[in-house]
Amino acid sequence: VEVDKSQGWMWWIQSVYVRPEHRGRGVFRALFDHVHQAAVADPEVIGLRLYVEDSNFKAQEIYQHLGLERAGYFVLERFPL
Ligand SMILES: CC(C)(COP(=O)(O)OP(=O)(O)OC[C@H]1O[C@@H](n2cnc3c(N)ncnc32)[C@H](O)[C@@H]1OP(=O)(O)O)[C@@H](O)C(=O)NCCC(=O)NCCS
Repeated sequence: VEVDKSQGWMWWIQSVYVRPEHRGRGVFRALFDHVHQAAVADPEVIGLRLYVEDSNFKAQEIYQHLGLERAGYFVLERFPL
């Protein structure tokens, strides 16, 4: 979790992986709906976030289908150190 001091908490969904043979059967939908409902029920939580690889178009489409939108950031790293 990350705090936006002016408004509330942003909950992050991190590193989602569904085994190939179980994809397309609502596993991520169930996880996302659960987290979303818990977030809506908590008045201190203002949003959900995740990041996805630029090249992972399929996951991007799924996330957009579930109502997630580009957040206006890009992620930077120094890796390997
Ligand atoms: C991305 C991933 C987590 C999705 O999990 P999943 O269990 O297969 O997804 P679901 O079956 O729950 O589908 C979620 C929703 O997206 C929809 N969807 C599926 N493919 C879609 C596509 N190409 N475009 C738009 N929507 C799509 C589904 O219909 C479902 O919506 P619905 O409930 O309204 O029908 C899974 O495919 C995965 O593990 N991929 C490999 C690892 C990966 O890319 N992880 C993400 C790293 S950020």
